[in-house]
Amino acid sequence: FGQESSEAQHGALDVVMEGLRRLEYRGYDSAGVAVITPAGIESRKKAGKLTNLIDELAADPLPRSLTGIGHTRWATHGGPTDQNAHPHLADGGRLALIHNGIIENYAELKAELTGEGLTFLSDTDTEVAAGLVGLLYRRLVDSGAQGDLLTLALQQACQRLEGAFTLLAIHQDQPGTVVAGRRNSPLVVGLGDGENFLGSDVSGFIDFTRRAVELGQDQIVTITPDDVAITDFFGAPAEGTEFHVSWDAAAAEKGGFESFMEKEIHDQPDAVGQTLLGRSDVSGNLVLDELRIDESILRSVDKIVVLACGTSAYAGQVAKYAIEHWCRIPTEVELSHEFRYRDPIVNEKTLVVAISQSGETMDTLMAVRYAREQGAKVVAICNTNGSTIPRESDAVLYTHAGPEIAVASTKAFLAQITAAYLLGLYLAQLRGNKYRDEIADVLADLSTIPAKIQSILDDADKIKQLGADMSNAKSVLFLGRHVGFPVAMEGALKLKELAYIHAEGFAAGELKHGPIALIEEGQPVVVVMPSSTARDSLHAKVVSNVQEIRARGAVTIVIAEEGDTSVEAYSEHVFYVPASPTLLAPLLTTVPLQIFALALASAKGYDVDQPRNLAKSVTVE
Ligand code: G6P
Repeated sequence: FGQESSEAQHGALDVVMEGLRRLEYRGYDSAGVAVITPAGIESRKKAGKLTNLIDELAADPLPRSLTGIGHTRWATHGGPTDQNAHPHLADGGRLALIHNGIIENYAELKAELTGEGLTFLSDTDTEVAAGLVGLLYRRLVDSGAQGDLLTLALQQACQRLEGAFTLLAIHQDQPGTVVAGRRNSPLVVGLGDGENFLGSDVSGFIDFTRRAVELGQDQIVTITPDDVAITDFFGAPAEGTEFHVSWDAAAAEKGGFESFMEKEIHDQPDAVGQTLLGRSDVSGNLVLDELRIDESILRSVDKIVVLACGTSAYAGQVAKYAIEHWCRIPTEVELSHEFRYRDPIVNEKTLVVAISQSGETMDTLMAVRYAREQGAKVVAICNTNGSTIPRESDAVLYTHAGPEIAVASTKAFLAQITAAYLLGLYLAQLRGNKYRDEIADVLADLSTIPAKIQSILDDADKIKQLGADMSNAKSVLFLGRHVGFPVAMEGALKLKELAYIHAEGFAAGELKHGPIALIEEGQPVVVVMPSSTARDSLHAKVVSNVQEIRARGAVTIVIAEEGDTSVEAYSEHVFYVPASPTLLAPLLTTVPLQIFALALASAKGYDVDQPRNLAKSVTVE
């Protein structure tokens, strides 16, 4: 993150620290800053969360400055220590550099630079990059080169680096300049008035400007107070694409809630409502203008492959049931990181749907690239404007959930399911199959979902209490069937992420094939009941499952549809959600599970927004 100002509107350190506060969700192992002062570069860095750096700066303040960079880290090479924190200094302390990503050829470069007499203090690949830029800068100076040497040095360095990286550098001989380079790792420019900004995403500078520029692959950007210049790694001029950020700083604040996660759970009626907004006409037809893929290609698609990781992959699993039902197109869901290593069958007739809240998950980005190389068309479902996955896809359907800050995803999940449903309905409409008639009805049902989510939120005291009462649980199992199966897995993931306890989601039908062996006296089991109108007596099957585990001592916690009294006799706890058609039920049944995990983890005293070891955007493979 870099900032720079000519007219002293904003001090660099204030801007950088505010940006780090907003970006901390991306990684929080350590944090550091560097600014250019009249006396040279000054830096402070500290292991642990940002608050440690804040304390350090209070104890040992930095002078006011107009140019600075800062970083929060999610450790890859080298543990989270003060020493390994960024920035790293080079060129005798005259240059400071920060880095996201992994430099794959760092060992080779380190050996080469050591041979040139450089020494390294940390275990990081970043310090090697800093050393390289510093050495190249010094050589340019020694050769008598003129002009913006920092930009030249970074261009030359980026030509040598392999892997994924965003690098930002400042040099004390060029106060008023921040230079950045990127490959396969996010970076956005913010355009201010007499000041410019750089950030991993727009939330880094949202307090200062909503005008942003997205950069292309393998680009270098140099910002000064009044100018933004973009080139490729070889110095040829290049262009970025300007866009306006539609949300403001208030959207990225807690708004009176105790945690971002709690706020984001409460944002869900809006997240679903906004994602639906403007995407159908009065006669109940889908209008997805943004889906810029030739209709004839979409008509000839013979397979859909959904690619995603984490919570987004569970959204994909929910979507599969709906897409196959409405479109009659075989749909596979695969974890992005598994996909491209198994020689998958993908060709011109495959439509890939890449789901990613951040738009930056490296595993998903790489899978998208692979799929396109095989001739597939890719539609991204994404929540982040200006991010990489949409840019590298053929089309994008944005979810309008607003910024999601808590590391464990909630509102983005519901918005992803909603967007995937719209895509499925649109394909059904386009292909004119027999389910086309259902579209208007489904859209009408979808439009009632935000109010139904709101009613769950308004009546959440009981599930919160149960979560708090269960803070000593060692393990919680989740069962679901049909669309309830991915909901069960998502419920278990939330508990793992937030409360650090063993939690696992099973297909209810699989119970008797193994998991039932885990049931013993007192084992809590959360059961996601299908709607009572579900086809093929699905509902009755799950009622039997509840009886089977109850008979073996399980404490059953059941999420059921209002009016479904059939399970009361077998449940310790029942939580009702409003009725909805089966395929839409995940937009409701997920919500109590999120509230449950939040309450349980909060009762344990854990930081629900920044769970240990996790990061929100995993921009390394
Ligand atoms: C990380 C986050 C998860 C998220 C997953 C996919 O693991 O901690 O919450 O679901 O990445 O992220 P994406 O941005 O691609 O949806």
